[in-house]
Amino acid sequence: MRIDILTALPRLLDSYFNESILKRAQAKGLAEVHVHDLREFSEDKHRRVDDYPFGGGAGMVMTIGPIDKAIAWLKGQRRYDEVIYMSPDGELLDQPMVNRMSSLKNLIILCGHYKGVDERVREHLIDREVSIGNYVLSGGELPAAVLSDALIRLLPGVLGDETSALSDSFQDGLVAPPMYTRPEAYGDWKVPEVLLSGHAARIQEWRHKQSVERTQVRRPRLLDENDPG
Ligand code: ADE
Repeated sequence: MRIDILTALPRLLDSYFNESILKRAQAKGLAEVHVHDLREFSEDKHRRVDDYPFGGGAGMVMTIGPIDKAIAWLKGQRRYDEVIYMSPDGELLDQPMVNRMSSLKNLIILCGHYKGVDERVREHLIDREVSIGNYVLSGGELPAAVLSDALIRLLPGVLGDETSALSDSFQDGLVAPPMYTRPEAYGDWKVPEVLLSGHAARIQEWRHKQSVERTQVRRPRLLDENDPG
């Protein structure tokens, strides 16, 4: 998978993609993330990528020119499956959406800023708008990093243990069961006996039961099939 991120603040994303699992995924050639500075595509002498809103009002709006040029430049080099705009009014991101998107090959993600982008960008240049939650952040960079992380960790070979992404919370519509590691007893706080039994079938059954109970208590709407919770 290749992800091209368009942003006015590229440095916000550098450290995230140059550490940990995302760095390893790129080193192994399983994923490529390219962060592009929209200012490089500005024709303004001060390299501006925003302007005052027509009709007045507070806040700046990102202009269409640099965004159009950046997208056209990328599309001139390869075919993209989707151009995504991270926006609080987009479709709410959840695990089924991430699973579906993880089979795509080339994605462009546009990060908004200020009061968002000129509406003509949304009308003509964007295929899909994605929100990471019902709250407003100061820019689309964190949302772009969230979406990229959720996608890249699902690519075969990225996680050490091939099965571990499948046992994540939400993959079976349930939250994850509790996990424990050494020591077996921390003072009076003990690890549940069943996990020390070595009895694989009983452990699996216990974990499943815990997941169902936790889902009922913490995220009951996940158990309602037609409701993403
Ligand atoms: N930009 C600002 N807030 C956002 C959100 N919640 N999701 C996606 N993009 C955003």
